[in-house]
Amino acid sequence: MTTPATATTPSSTTPVLPDAQTVTAVTHWTDRLFSFRVTRPASLRFRSGEFVMIGLMGDNGKPLLRAYSIASPSWDDELEFYSIKVQDGPLTSKLQHIKVGDQIILRPKPVGTLVHDALLPGKRLWLFSTGTGIAPFASLIRDPQTYTDYDQIILTHTCREVGELTYGRELVEQVKNDELMAELVGAENLAKLVYYPTTTRETSPKMGRITDLMTNGTVFKDLGIEGMSPETDRGMVCGSLAFNKDIMAIMESFGLREGANSEPREYVVEKAFVGEGV
Ligand code: FAD
Ligand code: A2P
Repeated sequence: MTTPATATTPSSTTPVLPDAQTVTAVTHWTDRLFSFRVTRPASLRFRSGEFVMIGLMGDNGKPLLRAYSIASPSWDDELEFYSIKVQDGPLTSKLQHIKVGDQIILRPKPVGTLVHDALLPGKRLWLFSTGTGIAPFASLIRDPQTYTDYDQIILTHTCREVGELTYGRELVEQVKNDELMAELVGAENLAKLVYYPTTTRETSPKMGRITDLMTNGTVFKDLGIEGMSPETDRGMVCGSLAFNKDIMAIMESFGLREGANSEPREYVVEKAFVGEGV
């Protein structure tokens, strides 16, 4: 390990990074996905669903930073992130090797549109995600406000393979069985959370793109819902650009309109990553 960013426990001889936080846990879910937790700056306040810039010190001595959704809830003492491993990615080719005790850089300026404030009040909240797009929703399903504001919360997660669903599936199980969450929102309210995972390239109990399953009515039939309505339904979307566009078109066809922090409406969208050529 040559850079300060990958040094282990900080000591008086270890150069301290600007905005450095210490890694407290790392879990590898697949060869392309991992999550990790870091210490939280005492002054950092954020709204569930927001993202921050995090990274490592580059070989040129300059910080190499990327946008990351905070996956942990705002009441957590630590911060959690859920990450892709891009083998030739400038940041994640290195970040995937972090270990407990290493340091990462975190710029404590949270921003984003996947927040409760950007939606008008409603009864049913849809959280639509693909891949690492589940990260902001990992925060939101651990936020007590989600359960007090809505009668039902439907988290959809579409991935190519079954293994890519594990982080989300374990998280939902954990939330539903978490004593602190039950204390915060009431055990009966945790039953409001409905998890709807689908895969597209490996066999699982529910196959297909969520967009197709909405268009052909399968999702609504499965959940016993008529469809979406601008009076009752609210949506948050986080996936690839193509996914976001397709889900937006479906919600618009039901009469929902895109909102923003400055103008709350029926749904909000954020890219899970910026693809090539976008
Ligand atoms: P980059 O040079 O940034 O990316 C190389 C290529 O890899 C991209 O062109 C794209 O095709 C692909 N890619 C990048 N990120 C992803 C991804 N997450 N899933 C699938 N393909 C990807 N990434 C996360 O892993 N977790 C997050 O919570 C997260 N939140 C984000 C929030 C926002 C608002 C944005 C804009 C991006 C977010 N990203 C997230 C993507 C992240 O910023 C980086 O792109 C990613 O960490 C890869 O960095 P890199 O330097 O290794 O490769
Ligand atoms: P598919 O396997 O049919 O492409 P990716 O890994 O390419 O980011 O995709 C993650 C998941 O999102 C995959 O299951 C993929 O399905 C699905 N997906 C990709 N694009 C769309 C889209 N435009 N609408 C719905 N689902 C999509």
